[in-house]
Amino acid sequence: MAFREYKIGARMFGLALGGSMCITLLLPAFDFASVSSTDVALDKAFTAGHETAFNLEDPFLLGWNKPLKITLKADPKTGQPMAAKEVYVYQTGTTFPAGILHPRILGKGVEELSVQQGKIGEAQKGAGAVFALAKGSFQGAEISYVENLTATKGWTPAVVMSVAKDEDVSHAGAGKTMFVREGCWWCHTLLPEQTQDWQVFGAPPMLGDFNGESPTAFGSDRKAPDLLHVGSRNSSREWMMLHFFNPRLVQPHSIMPRFDYLWGDKDASGQKIDFDKWRAEYIQYRDGARVTPPEVPAYSKNSEIRYLIDYMMSLK
Ligand code: HEC
Repeated sequence: MAFREYKIGARMFGLALGGSMCITLLLPAFDFASVSSTDVALDKAFTAGHETAFNLEDPFLLGWNKPLKITLKADPKTGQPMAAKEVYVYQTGTTFPAGILHPRILGKGVEELSVQQGKIGEAQKGAGAVFALAKGSFQGAEISYVENLTATKGWTPAVVMSVAKDEDVSHAGAGKTMFVREGCWWCHTLLPEQTQDWQVFGAPPMLGDFNGESPTAFGSDRKAPDLLHVGSRNSSREWMMLHFFNPRLVQPHSIMPRFDYLWGDKDASGQKIDFDKWRAEYIQYRDGARVTPPEVPAYSKNSEIRYLIDYMMSLK
């Protein structure tokens, strides 16, 4: 009788040890690396390129060394109009995403098709390459794989760029760098949870959506709306422009900081932006001495704010 507590304790200890041994022995049987990349993962990896956090190829997080995502509307070789096709352009010297360097991480099936039919092994950083997603069949199932269009069709970055219009070019890759650098993840998440959350912010992601992505920018804890699908619920560049210049223009009580400095010092027409004048007029408006707020300057096509808005629009 005196040893009863010890017996209970010993059994509980045995159960805990046994349980943890089962986990240790059984879990490795689930091979995370074999999870195939989903279309979402492939699109994200090829839009953002190799690495968006601090790295030696972009030490100041300025959006250097990033690919361009282009909606091609004309055949690059003949110039004839064709059904819109999305391609990822890696100009000379742009580092390829991890899946090109180590095809194994693309996952089962995607790796085989990308290497054999997509010829990704022939892509060379020095020459640059153009990639796209293609459909193929693997063991009876239809899946997407990566095609190196430079090898299969002879579409080099220079040829593709020569038929692309600026409005068809997305700098979402560089925009993700802005997202990381500006600390948007301090307030926002990119991870709707498997709770009622998804009724507001959209479907939670799947395991295969993150293959090869670095960093994932999930966010820490959430103080503001989840942004994983923001481009689906709000695809107005105009709204984004007002909101980033000063969130109080569209959400009077917003705690979000303004990001007007991402405009740089010149607007779309090359005019110098007078931030002090804008601020003075805005304060008059805020205090009721003006009926309308001052106009927000149109951003120039190579400004950081354009990159960031391109990234917001890519979050579908
Ligand atoms: C201090 C916290 C904070 C930071 C930092 C912050 N935001 Fe926000 N953001 C908010 C809040 C709060 C809202 C909701 C109110 C509003 O719309 O302004 C919001 C709203 C938004 C929305 C609209 C969301 C929707 O559901 O339509 C977008 C887009 C957005 N933020 C993008 C960004 C980006 C990009 C950055 C980084 C450059 C950023 N935010 C930085 C707090 C923040």
